[in-house]
Amino acid sequence: MRGGNDTANIRRVGVLTGGGDCPGINAVIRAVAKRAILEYGWDVVGLEDGFEGLIHGRSRPLSYEDVSGILTLGGTILGASKVSNPYRYAAGHGGEIVFEDVSARALANARALELDALACIGGDGTLGIACRLMRDGLPIVGVPKTIDNDLRGTEVTFGFDTAVAIATEAVDRVHSTAQSHHRILIVEVMGHKAGWIALHAGIAGGGDIILIPEIPYSLEAVAAKIRDRQTRGKRFSIIVVAEGAKPKGGEAVVRKIVERAPDPVRFGGLAFILAGDIERTTGIETRAVVLGHLQRGGSPTAHDRILATRLGAKAVDLVAAGDFGRMVAVQKGEIVSVPLDIPGAGPRLVPLDHPLLAAARAVGTSFGNEI
Ligand code: F6P
Repeated sequence: MRGGNDTANIRRVGVLTGGGDCPGINAVIRAVAKRAILEYGWDVVGLEDGFEGLIHGRSRPLSYEDVSGILTLGGTILGASKVSNPYRYAAGHGGEIVFEDVSARALANARALELDALACIGGDGTLGIACRLMRDGLPIVGVPKTIDNDLRGTEVTFGFDTAVAIATEAVDRVHSTAQSHHRILIVEVMGHKAGWIALHAGIAGGGDIILIPEIPYSLEAVAAKIRDRQTRGKRFSIIVVAEGAKPKGGEAVVRKIVERAPDPVRFGGLAFILAGDIERTTGIETRAVVLGHLQRGGSPTAHDRILATRLGAKAVDLVAAGDFGRMVAVQKGEIVSVPLDIPGAGPRLVPLDHPLLAAARAVGTSFGNEI
């Protein structure tokens, strides 16, 4: 924090990766570091484990060599944390969790590291914290990250394409058993409160029924669709369900509460409950597969590598231009920047008039709400 908005004074930029891992993070780190080093001649510092590194002063220099060869790697070479928030830091006191404001320490560490700017790669939680640090004096730019594709201000996030590709392959593969054994196969995908992954993978994989949080389902409608397929000679059905989907008048299935995390709710397991309900209702053998973290792991797709590279380079250009408090984003296919606080307005859900819903219905796909 040496030069404030005076970009001529920039010598050193930090980069951190908050929230969950996501395919393409390393491609962003690489782009940030290479652009900063090659174009501007700055030093780059990687903070370890998200804000944890800022709070405890854990960092390491990132040279050109350090970021060479990481484009295709899953995860984040810097480590990440979903629980570390400098404004509400969970400290253990005699087995009890006590939350403390350690933001002054985090800001002091940024000064000690002589960071002139910080690029925060993360989702709504990370970017919300970034907004507060920015207001408290740390010049920040944001890079939106999530497989869920639910961040406001950007049309797409890197990691989403990879998650959809993995989920689609899973849907493709369960067809074999569903078709051979005349079963119903349910594939549960991630997405938190949004149905983007389920919608895309459901259409790409030819799911017969797609259940998303934005359209509460009824068991009767799901069963009716399965019976309708049977009368047409289709003895199997594939259901793609978002982890956050819920029945009409009901709630999503919570798998776990992570008390220390800013966003403590973890969804998951609906597919197993639904499998039992459907088997009882239709009399057809039903199986469930929950993909979970498989969707976040491994190498990013070409699309995500390209997007991550463009976003990372643009983030550095924002720093060079003194455009702090901004998040790089995609709008109308172009890389732009928007205010950093936009993702804080809540998740970007699937609008009920989204063209992909119509496209799916056009080929007979049910959203489990037809009766
Ligand atoms: O936001 C990414 C995501 O994978 C969501 O789709 C999912 O709900 C959540 O993170 C899972 O979190 P965790 O890795 O803490 O179980």
